[in-house]
Amino acid sequence: MTQDRRAAPALMRATSRATSIRVEALTGTIGAELFDVHLGAVAEDDDLLAEVRRLLLQYRVIFFRDQDITRAEHVAFARRFGELEDHPVVGSHPDHPGLVQIYKTPESPPERNENSWHTDATWRDVPPMGCVLRCVECPPVGGDTMWVDMVEAYRQLPEDIKAKIEPLRARHGIEASFGAAMPIEKRLALKEKYPDAEHPVVRTHPETGEKILFVNGSFTTHFVNYNTPANVRFGLDKAPGSTQLLSYLVSQANIPEYQVRFRWRKNSVAFWDNRSTQHYAVMDYPPCHRKMERAAIVGDRPF
Ligand code: SIN
Repeated sequence: MTQDRRAAPALMRATSRATSIRVEALTGTIGAELFDVHLGAVAEDDDLLAEVRRLLLQYRVIFFRDQDITRAEHVAFARRFGELEDHPVVGSHPDHPGLVQIYKTPESPPERNENSWHTDATWRDVPPMGCVLRCVECPPVGGDTMWVDMVEAYRQLPEDIKAKIEPLRARHGIEASFGAAMPIEKRLALKEKYPDAEHPVVRTHPETGEKILFVNGSFTTHFVNYNTPANVRFGLDKAPGSTQLLSYLVSQANIPEYQVRFRWRKNSVAFWDNRSTQHYAVMDYPPCHRKMERAAIVGDRPF
């Protein structure tokens, strides 16, 4: 299923065909807010569930307001899309495994991992297919999250770049992000437990068949198969060839035409397709509290 939203303006503000869910697109590219829907009910209704999945694939990130749901309901909703996974560094709720607590308080350590464009956990061989994030406590102002459409980022690349990156594969690691502030022994232990993953630079969406630019500035460290005779005459060619190309690709996430920005309220929920997007949590609120709970749904191996 590939839909060009700009070719279908009726979809900008519509009631879903199959259910009573009302849909409002938030940009011409990515993101929609869904109304008249309660996630507790979706988890129990196969038609609603199928419609939410369809809208997720179409808009890549979908938003729900006023979801006064319990943690068990949050988990139950996400579980309808697959198994959940914990995070090796950010802890989960003690009574709800799989519900990762992204809590920032004035006392939080200064490390910041979320305010950098990233697709969650690409350092895994099998990164999550999607994440369901609920706002438990908001700062009075600020703390928005942004998402970027990496299908659109791929689609709009110049054709010669598309041809050049088609065969490339890249390394993704946890060490230089979540491990960076750790003492060396702890960092090496983290890397041993979660060795680097290798993924195609252009992945294919397993459900829609769309091509996705799949490198990100937080976890992608280098191309693993760039330095071939076709690209490198002398050692001198290596750095400008591969480093500048990777940095150019990573920078595509900065293009506002591919982005949506969401202002949180307590009990707002975002559900994003982690295969086709990156996100960035804007840290303009410290020293206030911001408490988010995230269920990451196990995905499949990128191809
Ligand atoms: C994340 O990076 O997965 C969390 C985003 C957020 O806290 O807004």
